[in-house]
Amino acid sequence: MKIVTVVGARPQFVKAAVVSRVLRKKHQEILVHTGQHYDSNMSAIFFRELGIPEPDYNLGIQGGAHGRMTGAMLASLEEVLSAEKPEALLVYGDTNSTLAGALAAVKLHIPIYHVEAGLRFGALTMPEEVNRILTDRISEKLFCPTESAVDNLRTEGIIRNVYQTGDVMYDAYLWASARPGGQMPEYGRHYLLTVHREENSNPAALAEIFRAMAQLDAPVIYPVHPRNAKLAHSLEHTNIELIEPVGYREMLGLLNSCERVVTDSGGLQREAFFAGKPCVTLLDRPIWPETHNGGRNQLAKCECGDILEKLSADIIADSGGQPFGDGHAAEKIVEAI
Ligand code: UD1
Repeated sequence: MKIVTVVGARPQFVKAAVVSRVLRKKHQEILVHTGQHYDSNMSAIFFRELGIPEPDYNLGIQGGAHGRMTGAMLASLEEVLSAEKPEALLVYGDTNSTLAGALAAVKLHIPIYHVEAGLRFGALTMPEEVNRILTDRISEKLFCPTESAVDNLRTEGIIRNVYQTGDVMYDAYLWASARPGGQMPEYGRHYLLTVHREENSNPAALAEIFRAMAQLDAPVIYPVHPRNAKLAHSLEHTNIELIEPVGYREMLGLLNSCERVVTDSGGLQREAFFAGKPCVTLLDRPIWPETHNGGRNQLAKCECGDILEKLSADIIADSGGQPFGDGHAAEKIVEAI
């Protein structure tokens, strides 16, 4: 089959890397980068480290309000799909690039295959929730990472062509862990912080998070997403080392050597789970319920006291097993295709 894959944002590079490797053994893949993430340490470094093939198209669309960004991607992707005439479109996760790809394809009657289908937060205030609900609704094949994602789709009446494949992020984690590479900077005893969600990227929220970090018993390392760079540096950040965004391997290095994780990233809360690191997630609802098994992931409000309380929570020995599959999600996806 000829398949067009659309990626654009950092986590999608990681996911596409593992699927592409398997997909290209059997199918022709045309890779389109929307340009949503463009800094070299947000994009190129992942292509290099994970051996992702050069994109066939780079649309160079970035920044601006959600509507403008998504609309510009939609117009460009329609042109690419009209020219390439693929038999299917493959998209990942829940970013504006995902939704733009899905909308462009459905209007041209091109079947959509959605990897990481069925995730639900439960509130449309989160921009990604809109993207995932709409993409799932118009997808032809839905590849779910977990049992709960399958359940979410069933609740919405989506039961046809739903596959529980496991999580491609777990594939990526195992793949990279088996191939340690490069010289890792030494960081010593530390906590790991990431904050990038729109909801938490305001002065009041970030200042509260930083106040909590100032009270921890070891330095906190925060690779700052470009969205928050100016704000983070302008706030008092005692005990926090603000560093540039890091590639996938360096992130795993920071994770594997940290005490605990504080994050609002869907990817990092799972990676913390894979690595057996306790995590505090700065969101008011769970999005990856399995990571909360045994109290290993705790939700906290963006309030200093709540964050510190959740960071000191005891972890119960986990008996939930590995809910994210067996590290062969990519093979199962390609099999289903
Ligand atoms: C996007 C996704 C989010 C995902 C995240 C991963 C949407 C709605 N959100 O959020 O689901 O978790 O990617 O990181 O699609 N910027 C740069 N350089 C870059 C990338 C971004 O300066 O390389 C700037 C942009 O110009 C923009 C801001 O950061 O002003 C936010 O970027 P954007 O792509 O809109 O959303 P993310 O927060 O990255």
